[in-house]
Amino acid sequence: MTDFAAGDACLLFDKKGRRYLIELIPGAQFHHHHGLLPHDEIIGAEEGTTHESSRGRPLVAVRPRLADFALKMPRGAAVVYPKDSGAILVWADINPGNVVVEAGSGSGALTMALARAVGANGKVISFEVREDHAELAEKRIRGFFNELPNQIELRVGAIEEGLRELRPDRVVLDLPEPWHTVPIAAERLAPGGIFCCYLPTVPQVQEVRAAIDAADVFFDVMTFEMMMREWAVEGRSVRPSHRMIGHTGFITVARKREPAGDR
Ligand SMILES: C[S@@+](CC[C@H](N)C(=O)[O-])C[C@H]1O[C@@H](n2cnc3c(N)ncnc32)[C@H](O)[C@@H]1O
Repeated sequence: MTDFAAGDACLLFDKKGRRYLIELIPGAQFHHHHGLLPHDEIIGAEEGTTHESSRGRPLVAVRPRLADFALKMPRGAAVVYPKDSGAILVWADINPGNVVVEAGSGSGALTMALARAVGANGKVISFEVREDHAELAEKRIRGFFNELPNQIELRVGAIEEGLRELRPDRVVLDLPEPWHTVPIAAERLAPGGIFCCYLPTVPQVQEVRAAIDAADVFFDVMTFEMMMREWAVEGRSVRPSHRMIGHTGFITVARKREPAGDR
């Protein structure tokens, strides 16, 4: 890992394990309730270094994991939770070199996870209907990577339109009415390609499953949800945490076959 540079995202941990996400800006100061820490002390230093606030409190500086960043970044649209983005990457089998068409970009959290999975030889084309959300997504993506990675292409517009001229390996949706995209995804996805969507409510899942059935080219269809329960480990007291994220969304995944008659 290279040393911290100006513009990098940095996560500071205090003694109590509280975490603070900052962007490193020359001349700026981090204000902790136990003193100040100049960003210039972190810029040029190694990741994992313990710095001291002006009142002698230790602060450990590391790069945020994508999960930390997604949960801590100021956001407009609700993000895909890390427990769910992990499952999306695995069950939609996002792999290096894939061309993924995504919508909506929202706050960019899922776009970043997809971009890492497809790698420098892949492509994530992300559609967003709201210009303000598209701008925010770009800002957040630049905030995390300190640039807009080449494999990410952000487009303002509805996916139902944009997808018509593309031939992706994967279509990944986090928007309220994915059933409008299903017929176009059925047509444009490469055979063997995967359709995936993330939905918060049961009626939405029912509607998208009906559209998937109606398209008549999808098989191996599966809907599931992810539960993540953290444990508190303090000496001999080892038990599940009292609090957990009870519900986020349902993930639906379907594979495309060659339409009958095309063989
Ligand atoms: C829940 S947010 C997506 C959050 C994003 N996955 C993330 O992790 O940050 C849903 C977004 O979809 C956008 N949207 C809704 N319908 C759309 C469509 N047909 N095409 C493109 N974007 C759409 C909304 O404007 C909104 O920003």
